[in-house]
Amino acid sequence: MSLYLITLFAHSYLRWAVLAAVVFVLVRAFVGWRRARAWTRIDERLHVALVGLTNLQFTLGVALYLFMSPLSHAFFADPAGAMKVRVVRFFGLEHPVMMLLAVALVHMGRSRSRKAATGALRHRVVFATTLAALLVSCASIPWPGLDHGRPLLRGTASVRSRDGQACSAGERDRAQPTVSSESGRRVVRRTQKSRAADTVSRPAVSPIQIPRKPSSSSNAST
Ligand code: HEM
Repeated sequence: MSLYLITLFAHSYLRWAVLAAVVFVLVRAFVGWRRARAWTRIDERLHVALVGLTNLQFTLGVALYLFMSPLSHAFFADPAGAMKVRVVRFFGLEHPVMMLLAVALVHMGRSRSRKAATGALRHRVVFATTLAALLVSCASIPWPGLDHGRPLLRGTASVRSRDGQACSAGERDRAQPTVSSESGRRVVRRTQKSRAADTVSRPAVSPIQIPRKPSSSSNAST
């Protein structure tokens, strides 16, 4: 398995650990705020764990984005054309920007809550910022069923194609995008070429799974 796929799987599964930490923090912060409880050591550890897991998820995302993902590389190669291709626009622009905002909210919650004068206030700040981060990140998760959707559990789940038939994420995405402009078509051709090459060696793992950067020759051919 390539470094790209290992990182993609880690990024995909780590979301559940982040979500679990978010749920624990939210519940404790809500109860602590409503009952005006003191900020305890357990609250502190949970919040530190949330920040740590979020940072790790962010680091994996940035590594995918800058060095490994064929989707972000397709986006970098032709940003204007990529804007017309839903899946490339999502992973090249929307997902990173929204997730960056979610991470910033978690960090804002950490720094502001540390300055809170009372336990109740600290719980309230943590509750508000964590809830905001959860909503922002939920809005930019590639949920199964969306055009750019991915399985909830990599390797086991399947997704539904537009006509409702069960299929792998790869099959559904390969059946995808239609664009009208020439630059958009160039991005699609590049990603489809990559998918086809990768499917031969690693079927049904990722919709677009070439663990290599677009080569200069493929750029030249488009
Ligand atoms: C911190 C919260 C984040 C969460 C919860 C999250 C979640 C996800 C999920 C669920 C996927 C789909 C994985 C799969 O295909 O199974 C994904 C893909 C991706 N994420 Fe994130 N992400 C986060 C942050 C980021 C950030 C900050 C970046 C970039 C700066 C990023 C870049 C990417 C890229 C490029 C992909 C697609 C990789 C590929 O298929 O080639 N993510 N993310």
